[in-house]
Amino acid sequence: MKKIKTLQCIRCGKDHKFNDTKYNCAACGGNLQVLYDYNLIKKRLNYDVLKDNAEHSIWRYLDILPIASIKTVPPVQVGWTPLYKAEKLGAECGVPNLYIKDDGRNPSASFKDRASAVVTARALELKEKVICCASTGNAASSLACLTGSLDMKTMIFVPETAPAAKVAQLLVFGAIVIMVKGTYDDAFELCLKATQEYGWYNRSTGINPLTREGKKTCSFEICEQLKWETPDKVFVPVGDGNIISGIWKGFVEFHRLGIIERLPQLIAVQAEGSDSIKRSLETGTDVQPVSGKTVADSISVSLPRDGLAAVMAIRDSGGYAVSVTDAEILDAIPRIARGSNVFAEPAAAATYAGLQKAVKEGKVKETESVVLLITGNGLKDVQSAMKSVGKPFLIKPDIDELKKLISDNKLA
Ligand SMILES: Cc1ncc(COP(=O)(O)O)c(C=O)c1O
Ligand SMILES: [Zn+2]
Repeated sequence: MKKIKTLQCIRCGKDHKFNDTKYNCAACGGNLQVLYDYNLIKKRLNYDVLKDNAEHSIWRYLDILPIASIKTVPPVQVGWTPLYKAEKLGAECGVPNLYIKDDGRNPSASFKDRASAVVTARALELKEKVICCASTGNAASSLACLTGSLDMKTMIFVPETAPAAKVAQLLVFGAIVIMVKGTYDDAFELCLKATQEYGWYNRSTGINPLTREGKKTCSFEICEQLKWETPDKVFVPVGDGNIISGIWKGFVEFHRLGIIERLPQLIAVQAEGSDSIKRSLETGTDVQPVSGKTVADSISVSLPRDGLAAVMAIRDSGGYAVSVTDAEILDAIPRIARGSNVFAEPAAAATYAGLQKAVKEGKVKETESVVLLITGNGLKDVQSAMKSVGKPFLIKPDIDELKKLISDNKLA
């Protein structure tokens, strides 16, 4: 593809040919990133072209994606999710310019569809027969959704603790689901071994350099939706670190193309038990395994698979990391819902818990514009959501009983 210059190793800088390389660096095993011929792309993708583009999906950015043609893309709308100004939530936390990017509005109800769409399109170009993925749940359900109607077998590895709704999605879309008695990290290693054994195309986060390409489209959309302005801060829930590194790449590329004038600060939000990237950032040491234990299953990771890229992204943006407790994450679910009308799954709700903490610590100015990345819909994990709210009333279908209930509980 003429627009692609190289697949470059994030760790050692070695260049790899796009057409000959699917996964990690041949020299050091580091993760790769796609670099484009930005001078060429500048002629095709700029403000004038974008403002008249009627394609409202990630494919409006095809010129800067590693896909040759729109002909191989999955047949559902991925991306161009709403960006809301959250007036009430913003007032509650003292950030009047607060925005919610509702990525739960994607086809499988998570941000991961951006990555799965690009990887699936590439798999179609490569005429792959079998695609596989290890996942905490969303990457897998997203891949299963996007390959659902395609003639491509989809093999999924998830920990046995994956929330029921995500497993239901996998089965409904027709994937072969292998639940692993262990953690996400165990599922990841098994999927990797299966790829080596059977030659399947592996979409797993970190090893496949194309996931970051899909994820960067969210930043492009945020810039366009803010009328070509850059937000001051973007709060991103972080597990493997691939979303945040993708988000950074998107802003950097729009900046390089001259579409935006400045870059935002990225704030990584991690669960306390799954804070490997925060630790690495603050101690300056390599990303080390942690317990990974948290109620927010999507960011429950022992050893992050894109940790180095994540740390570099946060540092380059002048941002920082915040960790939050499970109780703070659960508390944030109804707060976001009542303050912005958006139902977030625990990992996504962590962004608001992180914002509250950062505000309390004086790390966010009242004048700053802040985007919370809501990466997954709350219906993905109702069991966790139910822990943070009261119980419904149960009565007979009788008006007197209703009257008594209303008066006893002062409901009206
Ligand atoms: C809803 C949601 N939020 C956040 C994340 C974290 O993304 P990453 O693992 O790339 O850091 C995930 C990943 O599974 C996710 O599904
Ligand atoms: Zn390398």
